[in-house]
Amino acid sequence: MRGAAVFPGHRKLGIVHDVPEPIIDSHTGVKLRVLQVGICATDREIAGFHFGTPPEGSPYLVMGHEGFGEVVETGPEVIDLKPGDLVVPTVRRPCADPACAACQNDRADFCQTGTYTEHGIMGMHGFLTEFTTGEARYMRRVPPAIRDVAVLVEPLTIAEKAFIQAEQIQLRLPWKRPSGEVHAVVTGAGPVGLLGAMALRERGCQVTVYSREPETDLRANVTRAIGANYVSGQNMTPEQLAAGIGSIDLVYEATGSSMLAFEMLNALGRNGVMILTGVPGAHGPEPVDTGALITNMTLKNQCLLATVNAGSDAFDRAIADLSAFCAKWPDAVRGLITGRFTLEQFETPIQNASGIKSIIEVAA
Ligand code: BGC
Repeated sequence: MRGAAVFPGHRKLGIVHDVPEPIIDSHTGVKLRVLQVGICATDREIAGFHFGTPPEGSPYLVMGHEGFGEVVETGPEVIDLKPGDLVVPTVRRPCADPACAACQNDRADFCQTGTYTEHGIMGMHGFLTEFTTGEARYMRRVPPAIRDVAVLVEPLTIAEKAFIQAEQIQLRLPWKRPSGEVHAVVTGAGPVGLLGAMALRERGCQVTVYSREPETDLRANVTRAIGANYVSGQNMTPEQLAAGIGSIDLVYEATGSSMLAFEMLNALGRNGVMILTGVPGAHGPEPVDTGALITNMTLKNQCLLATVNAGSDAFDRAIADLSAFCAKWPDAVRGLITGRFTLEQFETPIQNASGIKSIIEVAA
């Protein structure tokens, strides 16, 4: 079968025509026909040879971790999935260390050893191919009503995992604020940012999306369509933004710009939580007044949370939320998918990032 792959040893990308078709190798296994796969910044990093590890013994890694497919076959002990069901597979699989409490509890997203594997990223082929297999417990069922946007589930899980944790953190406050009074700022109007903004609006928060694009941009239109406010970084500094809002209770950072993250941390309000989801990579020293930063954080009881990957609880919340978003803002949700490509064209959206979210249509 065909697969869109990176050959890190040869520093090249290409379609492999003879990827072995996977077979179900356990009684609880499931085989999927891949329907659609989203492309994200992680794929661009892998295609730039910054990371991405092929499975042992393979010269190439089939890319793609934002998967969506249809069940075509199930092992004899699979009870809750059947051929024809639509599913989104989770990305990460547990490490082999019996002492890793996270992986032993099926929470590889919190793996303690760092020796987990990830489809399309680390040690396991991804979903940019015709078929994939996996254990049924790693497949989350999707209602047919959201078939056309289900490929957005995985990027939404990043926000869902973040907000599950933020809600737990804020249980430290011995009173409950009505969510309508919670002011959240989302930095970055890419898919992770806009899906996060939707999840916050769905919870009833007041949301401002702060991003570099002008206020006439497509991303600003999506933001306004979900009842959130859009502020362009071209018109306002984070400090001015905070002064206009009053007190920022939550920042969801989805730009991956470390300097902007520090500026937003300075703008965060009392008892606030700031969530980091970006992976900026090392790029040399930058001037930050660390004393002022830590003084501010301490005196304001702030919490800085960084988060990666997601467990099945976040996948289930993402699927439920995406259904709710589609009922409320169908055009805004569908408008997030701005580019559609065939498997053979996979390099185009990887090499030239444009629009909001590009997807690969592997099968109809
Ligand atoms: C994926 C995560 C993954 C991470 C780092 C992201 O793009 O959404 O699931 O853990 O990359 O490898």
